[in-house]
Amino acid sequence: SAEIPSESPRVTPRSTSSLEGHSIVTLDDMSTTDIQDILDRAGYIDAHRAEVSHTCDGRVLATLFYEPSTRTRLSFETAMLRLGGKVIGFAGAQLASVTKGESISDTLKTVSNYADVVAIRHPKEGAALVAAEASRVPVINAGDGGHMHPTQTLADLATLRSRFGRITDLTVGLCGDLTFGRTVHSLIETLCRFGDVHFVLISPEELTTPQYVLDRIDATPSCSYTEVRDLTAVIGDLDVLYMTRVQKERFFNEDDYLRLRDTYILDEAKLAMSKPDMAVLHPLPRVNEIAVEVDSDPRAAYFDQVRNGMLVRMALESMVVGDDLAGYEPARPL
Ligand code: CP
Repeated sequence: SAEIPSESPRVTPRSTSSLEGHSIVTLDDMSTTDIQDILDRAGYIDAHRAEVSHTCDGRVLATLFYEPSTRTRLSFETAMLRLGGKVIGFAGAQLASVTKGESISDTLKTVSNYADVVAIRHPKEGAALVAAEASRVPVINAGDGGHMHPTQTLADLATLRSRFGRITDLTVGLCGDLTFGRTVHSLIETLCRFGDVHFVLISPEELTTPQYVLDRIDATPSCSYTEVRDLTAVIGDLDVLYMTRVQKERFFNEDDYLRLRDTYILDEAKLAMSKPDMAVLHPLPRVNEIAVEVDSDPRAAYFDQVRNGMLVRMALESMVVGDDLAGYEPARPL
């Protein structure tokens, strides 16, 4: 009987990416060399938009978003469109057969027949791993509950590198909801892999950093941390201030959320106490944590992060499907 091709009917030159065919559930699915390669490719894509615009011709990305998103879903989709591919998927599980009781595994066993790569966001920790294990094609975790958001971390790293020319030798303040903020956990763990960072962990008593994240810092000889409650006492020491939203959707108790949500608000007065080249990052969406007046300050880097998010997703999508960027040569041995 005739064989039916399961993926795009195209001949691809041998990929220069060691991530070809790999799912990305956590940052540990990438070596530090892979991460540097992604950042290099993102920079290359930014400088060679026209040359890379047919990289993924004929490819299909599926976005399965069981939880709200603006930046992550739209940037995953834009990334594939800007590489020449196409996009299918759903935003809001109420539109999919999950409402009829379909499992994540069955959804992936289905969708991975249609697409070359899948991006999934789900409110439950571990959902992306379940999806990856069921899928015939690479799955990229676009956020699973309070666990991981690896591509946000790549956007954060790209932003640090564009601001400072490095991602080490920095004093990084993380401020707000350090308990539920998955982007904070991913960023700390990844910066520890590169080393030479002092973390200043700024949070209310009720929203401190989980012990397993502190253990990760303790296990890294070149990294250290201090935990504080007062942002103004430490802002002058920081190279980076990573603000976070108090995660309403992860609270069991509305009263606790209302009491804690406005603990830290970065405004012009506080920003005036910081170094002139400090970078203010925020994964967004913001609620009240950063006053709008800060947006016009050169230290505001959070909309650069948004842009970098699209560029790193372009890099990653092309890498996992095994499509090389025209003219790009990896700087490091794979
Ligand atoms: N940073 C981030 O994950 O934003 P969205 O929730 O809008 O995707």
